[in-house]
Amino acid sequence: MRRSVSGFPLTKKVVRRFVAGEQAQEARNAIERLRDTGLAVTVDHLGEETLDARAAEATARAYITLLEALKPLRLGDRGEVSVKLSAVGQRLDDAMALEHAREICAAAAASGATVTLDMEDHTTVDSTLSILRKLREDHPATGVAIQAYLFRSERDCHDLSSEGSRVRLVKGAYREPASVAHQGRTDVDKAYVRCLRILMAGNGYPMVATHDDRMIAITELLADRFGRTIGDHEFQMLYGIRTDLQEALAGAGHTVRVYVPYGDDWYGYFMRRLAERPANVAFFLRALGGK
Ligand code: FDA
Repeated sequence: MRRSVSGFPLTKKVVRRFVAGEQAQEARNAIERLRDTGLAVTVDHLGEETLDARAAEATARAYITLLEALKPLRLGDRGEVSVKLSAVGQRLDDAMALEHAREICAAAAASGATVTLDMEDHTTVDSTLSILRKLREDHPATGVAIQAYLFRSERDCHDLSSEGSRVRLVKGAYREPASVAHQGRTDVDKAYVRCLRILMAGNGYPMVATHDDRMIAITELLADRFGRTIGDHEFQMLYGIRTDLQEALAGAGHTVRVYVPYGDDWYGYFMRRLAERPANVAFFLRALGGK
């Protein structure tokens, strides 16, 4: 599948709908365009689980180079990077992932940007939260994604709802067993609302990452109920998905942060975006067929 996907030139156009480009310069161009329409960004250097220490090191370097390249854009806190710990060595050794993540946090701090840790499959959650705690000792603004579909996440949201804590709430994008995660859409949506309520009632900074109109409307109701104002939480969406909604919310004064993935290792990310929506698969197949 990977070979056939990479082989079709047209496929690249399809991939480009969700991925800003393969090079840092292309990411930078996309970020400038988003900035000019009033959107904040979080940039993901694409890449997932590695068992190779040199690849982990190379990913950390790529983030540091990217952060350098973004400095002239003066994004301040409207600039952020998103890091998958598995790409910087988490599967090999927690200490290695922590060290690389620390270097990335330091580079981000030097350009006024923040870092959020993506959340991957459920076997990584304890390790990711433990690394987060250590990173926050020096870089308290470091955020983390919490996946509402996991049974444990309400408890994690409680633990992370104190002042200064930045939590990106997502529904969850990995195929997880029924022993650890809600399976049906309705159950996942209900769990999302329960987690959202905990974060909005707390003292942290909720980052509401969804394209779901109902979740966005519920966020606004909860903001009213808990006396939150427009600047103390934000919305996040993925590059290329519901751009009309991204711009409308930003136009209404909300902080809207767009998750901008770039790099040549786009396969896993792209496949998750296809899996989320049957219409995307149809779009992809039409592109393969040249229609
Ligand atoms: P849902 O899937 O119900 O979609 C609601 C509506 O949004 C759809 O009806 C459609 O209109 C639109 N939509 C959603 N997905 C689409 C797609 N692929 N193509 C086109 N339209 C689409 N997950 C994770 O496990 N770990 C993580 O760290 C992150 N990080 C992350 C960051 C950000 C900024 C976002 C927005 C999302 C993530 N995710 C994630 C992914 C997340 O878990 C989830 O899979 C997607 O956001 C889709 O869920 P929605 O909340 O949008 O709802």
